[in-house]
Amino acid sequence: MKKISRRSFLAAAGLSVAALALTACGGSSASTASSVASSAASSEAASTSAAAGELTTVEAGKLTMATNATFPPYEMTTDAGEFEGIDIEAAQAIADKLGLELQIDDMDFDAALLSVQQGKADIVMAGVTVTDERKAVMDFSDSYATGIQSVIVPEGSDIASPDDLAGKKIGTQRGTTGYIYCTDDFGEDAVVAYDSGLTAVQALNNGQVDAVVIDNAPAKEYVAANPGLKVLETSYAEEDYAIGMAKSSPLEDAINSALEELKADGTLQAIVDKYITAE
Ligand code: ARG
Repeated sequence: MKKISRRSFLAAAGLSVAALALTACGGSSASTASSVASSAASSEAASTSAAAGELTTVEAGKLTMATNATFPPYEMTTDAGEFEGIDIEAAQAIADKLGLELQIDDMDFDAALLSVQQGKADIVMAGVTVTDERKAVMDFSDSYATGIQSVIVPEGSDIASPDDLAGKKIGTQRGTTGYIYCTDDFGEDAVVAYDSGLTAVQALNNGQVDAVVIDNAPAKEYVAANPGLKVLETSYAEEDYAIGMAKSSPLEDAINSALEELKADGTLQAIVDKYITAE
């Protein structure tokens, strides 16, 4: 079941990214009012799945989503401070189906994972990889996307594949699978944990680390925004993204049904296509 093939060295899957204005703001902003920039899907009102009254949520009538909006194209903020991205629009579409108002709480990634475990948010949607360790402390919806851990290096680096990371300083985002894999494979001393992928990439630009290990889609966005960096062809690992919830969350069935409908009617794919252009 678990699809994480560590160090699977797959050729980087061909997803290129639409030219997006990247405005990932600094990591640890406090909760921000939820305003979704452009939700293609939100006009489709609640159709099936569940009526609002039947669902028990952290805040009545609301679907509270914890995220870390420094992770384009899944979640980021516009210059105007509005949230946008694949997870934001997919969550909006799910909330619509459930007849709930989407409330977005932006925080550090590790805090977002904890938030559902502590009953402060109904869901964490943040390009969250399903892992056995996380499954021990939270529940996951069905998967809605595939993630790939990639390696970013400066042009001209002698690091040509994930194996070459041995003996190097590696930047990662705190609490992510990138951090976990790298510490497992290369030791804690080799890995530096940053607040966000963006700050890790800034450290790479400043020569404080030799490489950054991060999910492929944001890696491409960061590299597009930072001349002189590149993403290695060879990937580090393949993963599944899913929506995280508290253990035995009462929302699990409703969320999975909504997700299934959004997959079946093409809404999810349309959201992905809006942010990621196939090569
Ligand atoms: N997929 C990775 C993980 O689950 C990284 C996710 C980071 N997401 C974010 N919004 N910063 O650990």
